[in-house]
Amino acid sequence: MSASTVLIVDDERTLARSIKAFLIDSGYDAEVAGSGEQALEQLERVRPDVIFADVRLPGMNGIELLRRIREFDAAVPVIMMTAYGTIEGAVEAVKLGAFDYLKKPVDLDELKLLTDRARESSRLKQELSYYRRRGTPELRFAEIAGQSPAMQAVLDRARQIAALDDVPPVLITGETGTGKGLLARSIHAAGPRSTRPFIEVNCTALPGTLMEAELFGHERGAFTDAKESKIGLFEAAEGGYLFLDEVGDIELSLQGKLLRAIEDRVIRRVGGVRDRKIDTRIFSATNRDLEREAQRGTFRKDLYFRLAVILLRLPPLRERDDDVLLLAEQFLHQFGAKYGKDVREISPRARESLLSYPWPGNVRELSHVIERAVLWSHGPVLDADHLSLSEPAAIGTTVTQVDAIPPGPNGGAQAGGVGIPSGAGDLPQWEKAVIEQAMRDAGGNQTKAAQRLGISRDTLRYRLKKFGIAG
Ligand SMILES: Nc1ncnc2c1ncn2[C@@H]1O[C@H](COP(=O)(O)OP(=O)(O)OP(=O)(O)O)[C@@H](O)[C@H]1O
Ligand SMILES: [Mg+2]
Repeated sequence: MSASTVLIVDDERTLARSIKAFLIDSGYDAEVAGSGEQALEQLERVRPDVIFADVRLPGMNGIELLRRIREFDAAVPVIMMTAYGTIEGAVEAVKLGAFDYLKKPVDLDELKLLTDRARESSRLKQELSYYRRRGTPELRFAEIAGQSPAMQAVLDRARQIAALDDVPPVLITGETGTGKGLLARSIHAAGPRSTRPFIEVNCTALPGTLMEAELFGHERGAFTDAKESKIGLFEAAEGGYLFLDEVGDIELSLQGKLLRAIEDRVIRRVGGVRDRKIDTRIFSATNRDLEREAQRGTFRKDLYFRLAVILLRLPPLRERDDDVLLLAEQFLHQFGAKYGKDVREISPRARESLLSYPWPGNVRELSHVIERAVLWSHGPVLDADHLSLSEPAAIGTTVTQVDAIPPGPNGGAQAGGVGIPSGAGDLPQWEKAVIEQAMRDAGGNQTKAAQRLGISRDTLRYRLKKFGIAG
Protein backbone atom coordinates (compact mmCIF):
# COMPACT_ATOMS: atom_id res chain seq x y z
CA MET A 1 0.00 0.00 0.00
CA SER A 2 1.41 3.39 -0.90
CA ALA A 3 1.93 5.96 1.86
CA SER A 4 -0.78 8.54 2.51
CA THR A 5 -0.02 12.06 1.34
CA VAL A 6 -0.32 15.16 3.48
CA LEU A 7 -0.47 18.65 2.00
CA ILE A 8 0.76 21.45 4.28
CA VAL A 9 -0.45 24.94 3.40
CA ASP A 10 1.47 27.65 5.25
CA ASP A 11 3.42 30.71 4.24
CA GLU A 12 5.89 30.19 7.08
CA ARG A 13 8.29 28.20 4.95
CA THR A 14 10.56 26.97 7.73
CA LEU A 15 7.68 25.63 9.78
CA ALA A 16 6.06 24.01 6.74
CA ARG A 17 9.32 22.33 5.77
CA SER A 18 9.97 20.96 9.23
CA ILE A 19 6.44 19.55 9.42
CA LYS A 20 7.04 17.95 6.03
CA ALA A 21 10.31 16.38 7.22
CA PHE A 22 8.68 15.12 10.39
CA LEU A 23 5.77 13.54 8.52
CA ILE A 24 8.10 11.87 6.03
CA ASP A 25 10.01 10.44 9.00
CA SER A 26 6.70 9.13 10.33
CA GLY A 27 5.99 7.24 7.11
CA TYR A 28 3.83 9.76 5.25
CA ASP A 29 4.41 11.50 1.93
CA ALA A 30 4.19 15.26 2.29
CA GLU A 31 4.01 18.35 0.06
CA VAL A 32 4.10 22.04 0.87
CA ALA A 33 2.10 24.93 -0.59
CA GLY A 34 2.86 28.55 0.33
CA SER A 35 -0.62 29.95 -0.30
CA GLY A 36 -4.21 28.95 -0.78
CA GLU A 37 -3.99 29.57 -4.52
CA GLN A 38 -0.96 27.29 -4.75
CA ALA A 39 -2.70 24.63 -2.67
CA LEU A 40 -5.67 24.59 -5.06
CA GLU A 41 -3.30 24.19 -8.00
CA GLN A 42 -1.67 21.23 -6.30
CA LEU A 43 -4.86 19.44 -5.27
CA GLU A 44 -5.42 17.74 -8.60
CA ARG A 45 -1.84 16.56 -8.89
CA VAL A 46 -1.11 15.63 -5.27
CA ARG A 47 -4.53 14.19 -4.36
CA PRO A 48 -3.75 14.54 -0.65
CA ASP A 49 -5.32 12.26 1.95
CA VAL A 50 -5.05 14.92 4.64
CA ILE A 51 -4.56 18.71 4.44
CA PHE A 52 -3.14 21.05 7.09
CA ALA A 53 -3.92 24.70 6.34
CA ASP A 54 -3.07 27.85 8.26
CA VAL A 55 -6.08 30.02 9.01
CA ARG A 56 -4.12 33.15 8.14
CA LEU A 57 -2.65 33.02 4.67
CA PRO A 58 -1.57 35.72 2.25
CA GLY A 59 -4.25 36.23 -0.42
CA MET A 60 -7.04 33.73 0.01
CA ASN A 61 -7.47 33.01 3.72
CA GLY A 62 -7.73 29.56 5.28
CA ILE A 63 -11.51 29.59 5.60
CA GLU A 64 -11.98 30.49 1.96
CA LEU A 65 -9.47 27.80 1.05
CA LEU A 66 -11.44 25.26 3.08
CA ARG A 67 -14.58 26.17 1.17
CA ARG A 68 -12.81 25.77 -2.17
CA ILE A 69 -11.30 22.43 -1.15
CA ARG A 70 -14.77 21.22 -0.18
CA GLU A 71 -16.00 22.03 -3.66
CA PHE A 72 -13.20 20.06 -5.14
CA ASP A 73 -13.37 17.07 -2.80
CA ALA A 74 -16.01 16.90 -0.09
CA ALA A 75 -14.31 14.06 1.75
CA VAL A 76 -10.68 15.01 2.26
CA PRO A 77 -10.10 15.98 5.91
CA VAL A 78 -8.76 19.51 6.41
CA ILE A 79 -7.09 20.49 9.68
CA MET A 80 -6.78 24.21 10.36
CA MET A 81 -3.63 25.51 12.01
CA THR A 82 -4.02 28.54 14.13
CA ALA A 83 -1.77 30.91 16.04
CA TYR A 84 -2.86 32.65 19.21
CA GLY A 85 -5.53 35.19 18.33
CA THR A 86 -7.07 33.32 15.42
CA ILE A 87 -8.56 30.48 17.43
CA GLU A 88 -12.08 31.72 16.73
CA GLY A 89 -11.37 31.44 13.05
CA ALA A 90 -10.41 27.82 13.58
CA VAL A 91 -13.55 27.05 15.55
CA GLU A 92 -15.54 28.66 12.77
CA ALA A 93 -13.69 26.48 10.28
CA VAL A 94 -14.63 23.33 12.19
CA LYS A 95 -18.25 24.38 12.00
CA LEU A 96 -17.79 24.78 8.26
CA GLY A 97 -16.57 21.25 7.98
CA ALA A 98 -12.88 21.30 8.87
CA PHE A 99 -11.86 18.00 10.43
CA ASP A 100 -10.22 19.65 13.45
CA TYR A 101 -7.76 22.38 14.36
CA LEU A 102 -4.21 22.46 15.64
CA LYS A 103 -2.79 25.24 17.77
CA LYS A 104 0.52 26.94 17.02
CA PRO A 105 3.27 26.61 18.12
CA VAL A 106 2.82 23.16 16.70
CA ASP A 107 3.26 20.18 19.01
CA LEU A 108 4.59 17.46 16.71
CA ASP A 109 3.06 14.60 18.71
CA GLU A 110 -0.32 16.20 18.46
CA LEU A 111 0.23 16.78 14.77
CA LYS A 112 1.03 13.11 14.25
CA LEU A 113 -2.02 12.04 16.23
CA LEU A 114 -4.30 14.30 14.23
CA THR A 115 -2.82 13.12 10.96
CA ASP A 116 -3.39 9.49 11.91
CA ARG A 117 -6.95 10.20 12.94
CA ALA A 118 -7.74 12.17 9.82
CA ARG A 119 -6.29 9.47 7.61
CA GLU A 120 -8.30 6.82 9.44
CA SER A 121 -11.43 8.87 8.99
CA SER A 122 -10.95 9.29 5.26
CA ARG A 123 -10.10 5.63 4.89
CA LEU A 124 -13.29 4.69 6.68
CA LYS A 125 -15.30 7.07 4.53
CA GLN A 126 -13.83 5.56 1.42
CA GLU A 127 -14.63 2.09 2.66
CA LEU A 128 -18.16 3.09 3.45
CA SER A 129 -18.61 4.72 0.09
CA TYR A 130 -17.38 1.52 -1.46
CA TYR A 131 -20.01 -0.47 0.40
CA ARG A 132 -22.52 2.13 -0.54
CA ARG A 133 -21.80 1.88 -4.20
CA ARG A 134 -21.84 -1.85 -4.09
CA GLY A 135 -24.93 -2.08 -1.94
CA THR A 136 -26.97 0.59 -3.66
CA PRO A 137 -27.43 0.01 -7.34
CA GLU A 138 -28.93 2.96 -9.18
CA LEU A 139 -32.46 3.11 -7.96
CA ARG A 140 -35.38 5.01 -9.28
CA PHE A 141 -38.91 5.11 -8.05
CA ALA A 142 -39.90 3.34 -11.22
CA GLU A 143 -38.38 0.21 -9.74
CA ILE A 144 -40.87 0.21 -6.92
CA ALA A 145 -43.79 -1.55 -8.51
CA GLY A 146 -47.25 -0.56 -7.31
CA GLN A 147 -50.39 0.74 -8.99
CA SER A 148 -52.77 0.39 -6.05
CA PRO A 149 -54.08 3.65 -4.60
CA ALA A 150 -52.40 2.83 -1.29
CA MET A 151 -48.96 2.51 -2.93
CA GLN A 152 -49.48 5.45 -5.26
CA ALA A 153 -50.20 7.66 -2.27
CA VAL A 154 -46.95 6.62 -0.57
CA LEU A 155 -44.90 6.99 -3.75
CA ASP A 156 -46.36 10.39 -4.41
CA ARG A 157 -45.22 11.60 -1.01
CA ALA A 158 -41.86 9.93 -1.38
CA ARG A 159 -41.27 11.81 -4.63
CA GLN A 160 -42.09 15.08 -2.94
CA ILE A 161 -39.65 14.30 -0.15
CA ALA A 162 -36.94 13.33 -2.61
CA ALA A 163 -37.18 16.73 -4.25
CA LEU A 164 -36.17 18.49 -1.03
CA ASP A 165 -32.58 19.34 -0.29
CA ASP A 166 -32.94 19.47 3.46
CA VAL A 167 -35.23 16.59 4.27
CA PRO A 168 -36.64 16.48 7.81
CA PRO A 169 -36.53 13.13 9.63
CA VAL A 170 -38.62 10.48 7.88
CA LEU A 171 -39.97 7.38 9.61
CA ILE A 172 -41.05 4.54 7.35
CA THR A 173 -43.34 2.00 8.95
CA GLY A 174 -44.69 -1.25 7.62
CA GLU A 175 -44.62 -4.98 8.16
CA THR A 176 -41.54 -6.98 7.34
CA GLY A 177 -40.79 -7.21 3.62
CA THR A 178 -43.03 -4.32 2.57
CA GLY A 179 -40.08 -2.46 1.01
CA LYS A 180 -39.07 0.00 3.72
CA GLY A 181 -35.37 -0.30 2.93
CA LEU A 182 -36.03 -0.07 -0.79
CA LEU A 183 -38.12 3.08 -0.35
CA ALA A 184 -35.50 4.81 1.81
CA ARG A 185 -32.73 4.03 -0.71
CA SER A 186 -34.90 5.20 -3.58
CA ILE A 187 -35.63 8.55 -1.95
CA HIS A 188 -31.90 9.04 -1.48
CA ALA A 189 -31.07 7.95 -5.01
CA ALA A 190 -33.71 10.18 -6.57
CA GLY A 191 -32.79 13.31 -4.62
CA PRO A 192 -30.20 16.05 -4.93
CA ARG A 193 -27.97 14.30 -2.38
CA SER A 194 -27.65 11.05 -4.27
CA THR A 195 -23.88 11.45 -4.51
CA ARG A 196 -23.67 12.00 -0.76
CA PRO A 197 -23.50 9.05 1.63
CA PHE A 198 -26.41 6.79 2.46
CA ILE A 199 -25.40 4.67 5.39
CA GLU A 200 -27.61 1.97 6.84
CA VAL A 201 -27.33 0.74 10.36
CA ASN A 202 -29.40 -1.99 11.89
CA CYS A 203 -30.30 -0.98 15.41
CA THR A 204 -31.03 -4.52 16.53
CA ALA A 205 -27.60 -5.76 15.67
CA LEU A 206 -25.59 -4.36 18.55
CA PRO A 207 -26.00 -3.94 22.31
CA GLY A 208 -26.37 -0.35 23.57
CA THR A 209 -22.79 0.48 24.44
CA LEU A 210 -21.36 -0.78 21.15
CA MET A 211 -24.15 0.91 19.27
CA GLU A 212 -23.27 4.22 20.87
CA ALA A 213 -19.66 3.95 19.66
CA GLU A 214 -20.86 2.83 16.25
CA LEU A 215 -23.20 5.80 15.87
CA PHE A 216 -21.16 8.52 17.51
CA GLY A 217 -17.60 7.26 17.22
CA HIS A 218 -15.08 7.06 20.03
CA GLU A 219 -11.83 8.63 21.11
CA ARG A 220 -8.66 6.71 21.68
CA GLY A 221 -8.72 5.02 25.10
CA ALA A 222 -12.49 5.47 25.52
CA PHE A 223 -12.64 1.78 26.40
CA THR A 224 -10.18 -1.10 26.64
CA ASP A 225 -10.15 -1.99 22.96
CA ALA A 226 -10.18 1.57 21.70
CA LYS A 227 -6.57 1.76 20.59
CA GLU A 228 -7.37 4.34 17.94
CA SER A 229 -10.08 6.90 17.74
CA LYS A 230 -12.76 6.24 15.20
CA ILE A 231 -15.45 8.33 13.59
CA GLY A 232 -19.03 7.20 14.00
CA LEU A 233 -21.71 6.68 11.40
CA PHE A 234 -23.29 10.09 12.04
CA GLU A 235 -20.02 11.71 11.01
CA ALA A 236 -19.43 9.29 8.17
CA ALA A 237 -22.84 10.12 6.72
CA GLU A 238 -21.98 13.84 6.70
CA GLY A 239 -23.89 15.68 4.00
CA GLY A 240 -26.07 12.67 3.31
CA TYR A 241 -28.36 10.24 5.09
CA LEU A 242 -28.14 7.89 8.00
CA PHE A 243 -30.76 5.15 7.83
CA LEU A 244 -31.64 3.72 11.22
CA ASP A 245 -33.24 0.41 10.39
CA GLU A 246 -35.37 -1.30 13.07
CA VAL A 247 -35.11 1.91 15.08
CA GLY A 248 -37.61 0.56 17.62
CA ASP A 249 -34.85 -1.68 18.93
CA ILE A 250 -32.61 1.19 20.04
CA GLU A 251 -32.09 0.79 23.76
CA LEU A 252 -33.78 3.32 26.02
CA SER A 253 -30.41 4.36 27.42
CA LEU A 254 -29.30 5.50 23.97
CA GLN A 255 -32.54 7.15 22.94
CA GLY A 256 -31.76 10.42 24.73
CA LYS A 257 -28.42 10.74 22.97
CA LEU A 258 -29.99 9.96 19.64
CA LEU A 259 -32.63 12.63 20.24
CA ARG A 260 -29.95 15.22 20.99
CA ALA A 261 -28.00 14.31 17.87
CA ILE A 262 -31.06 14.76 15.69
CA GLU A 263 -32.48 17.81 17.42
CA ASP A 264 -29.33 19.82 18.04
CA ARG A 265 -27.31 18.35 15.19
CA VAL A 266 -24.32 17.74 17.40
CA ILE A 267 -22.71 14.55 18.59
CA ARG A 268 -20.04 13.76 21.11
CA ARG A 269 -17.80 10.78 20.58
CA VAL A 270 -17.61 8.20 23.36
CA GLY A 271 -14.78 9.30 25.66
CA GLY A 272 -14.68 12.69 23.94
CA VAL A 273 -15.04 16.10 25.51
CA ARG A 274 -16.21 18.28 22.70
CA ASP A 275 -19.34 18.42 20.62
CA ARG A 276 -19.09 18.09 16.88
CA LYS A 277 -21.53 19.65 14.50
CA ILE A 278 -23.07 17.20 12.10
CA ASP A 279 -24.97 17.70 8.89
CA THR A 280 -26.74 14.39 8.51
CA ARG A 281 -30.33 13.71 7.60
CA ILE A 282 -32.17 10.88 9.31
CA PHE A 283 -34.32 8.14 7.86
CA SER A 284 -35.58 5.40 10.10
CA ALA A 285 -37.74 2.34 9.70
CA THR A 286 -39.66 0.04 11.96
CA ASN A 287 -42.12 -2.80 11.70
CA ARG A 288 -43.36 -2.11 15.21
CA ASP A 289 -46.17 0.12 16.34
CA LEU A 290 -43.84 2.75 17.75
CA GLU A 291 -46.58 5.27 18.27
CA ARG A 292 -48.29 2.91 20.67
CA GLU A 293 -45.01 2.10 22.36
CA ALA A 294 -44.40 5.82 22.77
CA GLN A 295 -47.84 6.21 24.38
CA ARG A 296 -47.05 3.34 26.72
CA GLY A 297 -43.64 4.71 27.60
CA THR A 298 -41.55 1.82 26.28
CA PHE A 299 -40.11 4.11 23.58
CA ARG A 300 -39.30 7.77 24.20
CA LYS A 301 -42.20 9.89 23.06
CA ASP A 302 -40.05 12.93 22.25
CA LEU A 303 -37.75 10.79 20.13
CA TYR A 304 -40.68 9.20 18.34
CA PHE A 305 -42.10 12.58 17.36
CA ARG A 306 -38.67 13.78 16.26
CA LEU A 307 -38.07 10.72 14.08
CA ALA A 308 -41.54 10.84 12.62
CA VAL A 309 -41.68 14.44 11.44
CA ILE A 310 -42.67 12.80 8.19
CA LEU A 311 -44.37 9.44 8.50
CA LEU A 312 -44.59 7.09 5.53
CA ARG A 313 -46.62 3.95 6.04
CA LEU A 314 -46.09 1.14 3.59
CA PRO A 315 -49.25 -0.94 3.33
CA PRO A 316 -49.00 -4.71 3.69
CA LEU A 317 -49.12 -6.54 0.38
CA ARG A 318 -52.60 -7.95 1.12
CA GLU A 319 -53.94 -4.36 1.12
CA ARG A 320 -52.50 -3.52 -2.27
CA ASP A 321 -55.18 -4.95 -4.54
CA ASP A 322 -53.78 -6.28 -7.80
CA ASP A 323 -50.23 -5.16 -7.05
CA VAL A 324 -49.58 -8.77 -6.10
CA LEU A 325 -49.99 -9.75 -9.73
CA LEU A 326 -47.99 -6.83 -11.01
CA LEU A 327 -45.13 -7.70 -8.69
CA ALA A 328 -45.43 -11.41 -9.42
CA GLU A 329 -45.03 -10.68 -13.13
CA GLN A 330 -42.05 -8.46 -12.49
CA PHE A 331 -40.37 -11.18 -10.43
CA LEU A 332 -41.32 -13.76 -13.05
CA HIS A 333 -39.32 -11.90 -15.70
CA GLN A 334 -36.49 -11.17 -13.33
CA PHE A 335 -36.02 -14.77 -12.20
CA GLY A 336 -36.83 -16.18 -15.62
CA ALA A 337 -33.88 -14.22 -16.98
CA LYS A 338 -31.71 -15.19 -14.03
CA TYR A 339 -32.33 -18.93 -14.39
CA GLY A 340 -32.66 -18.97 -18.16
CA LYS A 341 -36.30 -20.12 -18.03
CA ASP A 342 -38.83 -18.99 -20.53
CA VAL A 343 -41.88 -18.65 -18.28
CA ARG A 344 -44.04 -15.87 -19.59
CA GLU A 345 -47.43 -16.13 -17.94
CA ILE A 346 -49.17 -16.97 -14.73
CA SER A 347 -52.12 -19.33 -15.02
CA PRO A 348 -55.57 -18.10 -13.87
CA ARG A 349 -55.55 -20.58 -10.98
CA ALA A 350 -52.13 -19.41 -9.85
CA ARG A 351 -53.33 -15.82 -10.03
CA GLU A 352 -56.23 -16.67 -7.79
CA SER A 353 -53.93 -18.29 -5.24
CA LEU A 354 -51.64 -15.29 -5.29
CA LEU A 355 -54.57 -12.96 -4.69
CA SER A 356 -56.09 -14.92 -1.84
CA TYR A 357 -52.90 -15.66 0.10
CA PRO A 358 -52.34 -13.24 3.02
CA TRP A 359 -48.57 -12.72 2.46
CA PRO A 360 -47.28 -12.37 6.02
CA GLY A 361 -43.77 -11.89 4.61
CA ASN A 362 -45.10 -9.38 2.06
CA VAL A 363 -43.11 -8.51 -1.09
CA ARG A 364 -40.01 -10.36 0.06
CA GLU A 365 -42.03 -13.53 0.54
CA LEU A 366 -43.66 -13.07 -2.86
CA SER A 367 -40.29 -12.73 -4.55
CA HIS A 368 -39.10 -15.96 -2.92
CA VAL A 369 -42.27 -17.81 -3.85
CA ILE A 370 -41.93 -16.73 -7.49
CA GLU A 371 -38.23 -17.49 -7.55
CA ARG A 372 -38.90 -21.04 -6.42
CA ALA A 373 -41.83 -21.42 -8.76
CA VAL A 374 -39.71 -20.32 -11.71
CA LEU A 375 -37.07 -22.85 -10.76
CA TRP A 376 -39.60 -25.67 -10.68
CA SER A 377 -41.55 -24.65 -13.74
CA HIS A 378 -41.61 -26.43 -17.10
CA GLY A 379 -42.85 -24.55 -20.10
CA PRO A 380 -44.14 -21.03 -20.51
CA VAL A 381 -47.00 -21.06 -17.98
CA LEU A 382 -46.54 -20.86 -14.27
CA ASP A 383 -49.14 -22.93 -12.50
CA ALA A 384 -50.64 -22.91 -9.01
CA ASP A 385 -48.86 -26.19 -8.19
CA HIS A 386 -45.53 -24.48 -8.58
CA LEU A 387 -46.49 -21.92 -5.98
CA SER A 388 -47.33 -24.46 -3.27
CA LEU A 389 -48.59 -21.68 -1.09
CA SER A 390 -50.55 -23.72 1.40
CA GLU A 391 -47.62 -25.89 2.39
CA PRO A 392 -44.91 -25.06 4.86
CA ALA A 393 -42.47 -25.10 1.98
CA ALA A 394 -44.09 -21.89 0.86
CA ILE A 395 -42.35 -20.13 3.67
CA GLY A 396 -39.03 -21.89 3.32
CA THR A 397 -36.60 -22.36 0.52
CA THR A 398 -36.64 -26.14 0.41
CA VAL A 399 -39.25 -28.80 0.87
CA THR A 400 -38.72 -30.69 4.06
CA GLN A 401 -40.53 -33.43 5.86
CA VAL A 402 -42.85 -31.98 8.43
CA ASP A 403 -42.29 -33.89 11.63
CA ALA A 404 -44.29 -31.75 13.97
CA ILE A 405 -47.63 -30.27 13.15
CA PRO A 406 -48.24 -26.90 14.73
CA PRO A 407 -51.71 -25.92 15.81
CA GLY A 408 -53.67 -24.11 13.14
CA PRO A 409 -54.98 -20.62 13.74
CA ASN A 410 -58.12 -22.01 15.26
CA GLY A 411 -56.27 -24.18 17.72
CA GLY A 412 -56.65 -27.49 15.92
CA ALA A 413 -53.82 -29.44 14.34
CA GLN A 414 -53.71 -29.20 10.57
CA ALA A 415 -52.52 -31.91 8.32
CA GLY A 416 -49.62 -30.89 6.12
CA GLY A 417 -48.26 -28.24 8.46
CA VAL A 418 -49.29 -24.64 8.68
CA GLY A 419 -52.34 -23.80 6.65
CA ILE A 420 -53.75 -20.50 5.58
CA PRO A 421 -56.35 -19.28 8.02
CA SER A 422 -59.74 -19.61 6.48
CA GLY A 423 -61.75 -16.43 6.21
CA ALA A 424 -60.71 -13.72 8.59
CA GLY A 425 -58.02 -15.78 10.29
CA ASP A 426 -55.99 -14.52 13.20
CA LEU A 427 -52.91 -13.48 11.28
CA PRO A 428 -50.55 -12.88 14.22
CA GLN A 429 -51.29 -16.32 15.59
CA TRP A 430 -50.79 -17.86 12.21
CA GLU A 431 -47.53 -15.98 11.82
CA LYS A 432 -46.40 -17.27 15.19
CA ALA A 433 -47.16 -20.83 14.12
CA VAL A 434 -45.22 -20.34 10.91
CA ILE A 435 -42.21 -19.07 12.80
CA GLU A 436 -42.36 -21.92 15.31
CA GLN A 437 -42.53 -24.37 12.45
CA ALA A 438 -39.54 -22.80 10.72
CA MET A 439 -37.54 -22.87 13.95
CA ARG A 440 -38.35 -26.53 14.45
CA ASP A 441 -37.44 -27.36 10.86
CA ALA A 442 -34.16 -25.56 11.27
CA GLY A 443 -33.40 -27.46 14.45
CA GLY A 444 -33.44 -24.22 16.42
CA ASN A 445 -30.84 -22.58 14.18
CA GLN A 446 -31.95 -18.94 13.82
CA THR A 447 -29.92 -18.21 10.72
CA LYS A 448 -31.39 -21.20 8.91
CA ALA A 449 -34.90 -20.46 10.11
CA ALA A 450 -34.60 -16.85 8.96
CA GLN A 451 -33.42 -18.02 5.56
CA ARG A 452 -36.32 -20.38 5.26
CA LEU A 453 -38.74 -17.62 6.17
CA GLY A 454 -37.11 -15.21 3.78
CA ILE A 455 -36.58 -12.62 6.49
CA SER A 456 -33.45 -11.22 8.11
CA ARG A 457 -32.06 -12.81 11.24
CA ASP A 458 -32.71 -9.60 13.14
CA THR A 459 -36.32 -9.60 12.09
CA LEU A 460 -36.62 -13.21 13.17
CA ARG A 461 -35.06 -12.41 16.54
CA TYR A 462 -37.46 -9.56 16.98
CA ARG A 463 -40.40 -11.78 16.15
CA LEU A 464 -39.22 -14.55 18.47
CA LYS A 465 -39.12 -11.99 21.23
CA LYS A 466 -42.50 -10.55 20.30
CA PHE A 467 -44.20 -13.95 20.30
CA GLY A 468 -42.29 -15.20 23.30
CA ILE A 469 -40.82 -18.13 21.36
CA ALA A 470 -37.60 -19.49 22.82
CA GLY A 471 -34.76 -18.75 20.35
N1 LIG B 1 -42.80 -2.37 -4.48
C1 LIG B 1 -41.74 -3.16 -4.72
N2 LIG B 1 -41.36 -3.40 -5.99
C2 LIG B 1 -40.33 -4.22 -6.24
N3 LIG B 1 -39.60 -4.85 -5.29
C3 LIG B 1 -39.94 -4.64 -4.03
C4 LIG B 1 -41.02 -3.79 -3.66
N4 LIG B 1 -41.11 -3.76 -2.32
C5 LIG B 1 -40.16 -4.56 -1.85
N5 LIG B 1 -39.44 -5.10 -2.86
C6 LIG B 1 -38.33 -6.06 -2.72
O1 LIG B 1 -38.71 -6.92 -1.65
C7 LIG B 1 -37.61 -7.19 -0.79
C8 LIG B 1 -37.89 -6.71 0.62
O2 LIG B 1 -37.87 -5.30 0.68
P1 LIG B 1 -37.15 -4.52 1.85
O3 LIG B 1 -35.94 -5.23 2.30
O4 LIG B 1 -37.02 -3.11 1.44
O5 LIG B 1 -38.29 -4.66 2.98
P2 LIG B 1 -38.33 -4.13 4.48
O6 LIG B 1 -39.67 -3.53 4.68
O7 LIG B 1 -37.13 -3.26 4.71
O8 LIG B 1 -38.24 -5.48 5.31
P3 LIG B 1 -37.70 -5.76 6.83
O9 LIG B 1 -38.71 -5.15 7.77
O10 LIG B 1 -37.69 -7.24 6.94
O11 LIG B 1 -36.37 -5.12 6.93
C9 LIG B 1 -36.43 -6.51 -1.43
O12 LIG B 1 -35.77 -7.44 -2.24
C10 LIG B 1 -37.05 -5.42 -2.27
O13 LIG B 1 -36.22 -5.06 -3.35
MG1 LIG C 1 -35.45 -3.60 5.90
